[in-house]
Amino acid sequence: MTDDSTITHEAFKQFECDKFSLIAQEYDRAIAVVTSQVDEAILDAVGTKSGIRLLDVACGTGWLSAAALKRQAIVTGLDFAEKMVAIARERCPQGSFHHGDAENLTFESGQFEAVVCNLGILHFPNPEKAIAESFRVLKPGGRYAFTCWTPPTRNPFMALILGSVQTYGSMDVDLPSGPPLFRFGDPTECEMVLSAQGFTQVSVRELPIKWTFSTPEDVMPKIIVSSARLGSMLAMQSDEQRRNIENAIIEGASKYVTKNGVEIPASVMLAVGYKP
Ligand SMILES: C[S@@+](CC[C@H](N)C(=O)[O-])C[C@H]1O[C@@H](n2cnc3c(N)ncnc32)[C@H](O)[C@@H]1O
Repeated sequence: MTDDSTITHEAFKQFECDKFSLIAQEYDRAIAVVTSQVDEAILDAVGTKSGIRLLDVACGTGWLSAAALKRQAIVTGLDFAEKMVAIARERCPQGSFHHGDAENLTFESGQFEAVVCNLGILHFPNPEKAIAESFRVLKPGGRYAFTCWTPPTRNPFMALILGSVQTYGSMDVDLPSGPPLFRFGDPTECEMVLSAQGFTQVSVRELPIKWTFSTPEDVMPKIIVSSARLGSMLAMQSDEQRRNIENAIIEGASKYVTKNGVEIPASVMLAVGYKP
């Protein structure tokens, strides 16, 4: 049976799948360098070591998979965007990469000692289903870890971008409605959802991340070409709104100029669970 939420979910997934394929190269250059800053913490959290079978869900262009391969894990990656998978395969010839939906994994149950998902969870319209699927494919005794952006109140980068849109533009653009960006930036929510899906020994902690740009003027154009939802939201403002938003972002980013360029702090929540 198809209801409204199924249609909305499918429309959002199609938008994301097309968009991530389109921007894969730029994502790899501009954003994976940011998201990969927490790779080692994620791999530590699931006990990644030589010989373990690890699944990287929403693997993107394969940076986390590459870090797991360096530890000699046996790595499988999955993403629904074709171009992302193509780049991951190039980056990690020793990995095994698949197209697929995180909410409907095609792997048999109980195959992996570790399942990881770096900044994928906020893209899934039904994250409970994705978490349940990760639980299913884990072996008993296996560990699961995911990350999510923290909300603007504790994330200066998100505060700058979204605050500028809220003040000078509109958040209400013509995009398929997606899941909340910061739901899992809340530790209590992470604990509740992981426990509800059967995980025990749940722990959640915040990790710092830094966004770097050459100049304050570089911030908005870079986000537009390399990110899916944020980039589309910025691109879809009227010319005047875009000018005003861009000026606000330049002014805000100027406060973060260092000798290395522009360094804007941000953070993610890292949530970890154990399959008994
Ligand atoms: C922000 S990127 C994160 C990529 C990578 N994990 C990283 O840390 O750079 C989100 C990724 O999730 C993928 N994705 C979104 N929804 C998905 C779904 N339902 N199933 C599989 N992949 C999905 C996108 O194609 C994209 O590669």
